[in-house]
Amino acid sequence: MTASPAHSTRPWEDMVLYQIYPRSFADADGDGYGDLQGVIDHVGYLELLGVDGVWLSPIMRSPGADHGYDVSDPRDVDPLFGDVETLRRLVEELHAAQMVLIMDLVPNHTSVEHAWFAAAVEAGPGSPERERYFFRDGLGDDGSRPPNNWPSVFGGPAWTRITEADGTPGQWYLHLFAPEQPDLDWSHPDVGDDLERTLRFWLDLGVDGFRIDVAHGLAKPDDLADLPDDVEIAQLVVDERDARWDRPGVHDVHRRIRAVVDEYPGAATFGEVWVGPADRFARYLRPDELHFAFHFPLTGAPFEAGAVREAIEATLEASRIADSAPTWALSNHDVVREVTRYGNGALGTARARAMLLVELALPGITFIYEGSELGLPSDFSIPHDRLTDPTWERSGHAEMGRDHCRVPMPWEGTQPPYGFSTADRTWLPMPGDWGPLTVEAQLEDADSTLSLYRAAIETGRSWRGPRTASVEWYGAPSGCLAFRRDNGVVCALNTSERSVPLPEGEVILASGPLDPHTGAGEILPPDTAVWMRPR
Ligand code: GLC
Repeated sequence: MTASPAHSTRPWEDMVLYQIYPRSFADADGDGYGDLQGVIDHVGYLELLGVDGVWLSPIMRSPGADHGYDVSDPRDVDPLFGDVETLRRLVEELHAAQMVLIMDLVPNHTSVEHAWFAAAVEAGPGSPERERYFFRDGLGDDGSRPPNNWPSVFGGPAWTRITEADGTPGQWYLHLFAPEQPDLDWSHPDVGDDLERTLRFWLDLGVDGFRIDVAHGLAKPDDLADLPDDVEIAQLVVDERDARWDRPGVHDVHRRIRAVVDEYPGAATFGEVWVGPADRFARYLRPDELHFAFHFPLTGAPFEAGAVREAIEATLEASRIADSAPTWALSNHDVVREVTRYGNGALGTARARAMLLVELALPGITFIYEGSELGLPSDFSIPHDRLTDPTWERSGHAEMGRDHCRVPMPWEGTQPPYGFSTADRTWLPMPGDWGPLTVEAQLEDADSTLSLYRAAIETGRSWRGPRTASVEWYGAPSGCLAFRRDNGVVCALNTSERSVPLPEGEVILASGPLDPHTGAGEILPPDTAVWMRPR
């Protein structure tokens, strides 16, 4: 390995980071799947957008049962995306453009194709190989019932029974997600030792940090006891009796990760922490644990001023308790895209544009999911026989899963694959009506969503100033919210059905057309937000 490259010397606390879902960003080799060369080819686009860096969803070697979140070799790049050298080149290109790269890291589980799991199945019950995972005997005389009643996030039980090497029905193993994603037992010393190697492998290559998948799920209770029957099963932990998540032991894992990352000055970790109560969330951000964590209330909030304010306050409160910069995201690769969540079509687009201004006016780190800047909707029209998310099968076709928000990026032209690929068949089909949404169609159009993103990122940089976690709320008419930042800039949002007058002052940026007022000042129409300096 070459000498350790420089890591970010810039503060993370006010960065705008762009999430790339590598299968869907840009396909350079023409196989219908996005790849790392495709990202390299579009570093110029990221500069044009004005972001400070990239979060790359997993690119490690994986059979792809959960599209990279099932890792079979954590220290290699999957051939679908390129190789380690391609990643190194991407890091270099991003650094040359003053951008950082965060990689996704998946410490909660491996793929069933990981060498450890293959060895565990092979070695048989009671073997040391099985102790790196949760292998247990089934219940009942013939062991035909799962060891406990835990459900998997993707539907069905969180346990799968294996067939032993001699062909008999065997033990069960735990998987909080798909059966192809067996959970690791973090109390086994090999698990942490191996993760340390993985961290160093990528940090030595120059990556600036990690997004840590399922950061709240890494420790399981010793007894693996049944969940109470009435426990509320939700992704955002609301019920502390759901022993699958947020166990005390999880914090030892984060301390271990932090100790390694601290050897690389400037590197940072971002945890995926689906934990609701602010005080419990904040524990993940103690000085020797994660640097930052995703806090999801805004990502789930409906377009309604009261709910938006509540979500913002919850995140600010958590970050105050934790003394860590808040993080914001309107969407990611797991949720319905914001345009669709807020009402689809022109309405959803106007609202998503308004929410961008709200998000970028807030102190902290903003994550933009690829395609948000184009105003892409979720695509619920994907034919069933093309669906790939494990949720679809696991739920017995009751839930479509997350393919709708993972459709490839439209770059140019008027029909699929819109310059995403040279292949006719892309891994997920692309809708026929995305011609007006391509980068090409939006780039020169001053009113496009892409232009709004560029302007908001660029303009915001000059006034957002020092990012403290303070926002000052203004009294606002019903259905509206307004807050002021330290430097006097006010962000106002109208989610009501009526136009409201704005105070007099200089408008910095508006998410849509403002109505000229008959007297002084302007009018903020419904589904619109504005940044301004009141006089
Ligand atoms: C996280 C990821 C999601 C993945 C799951 C299992 O929630 O964001 O995409 O399916 O972990 O790794």
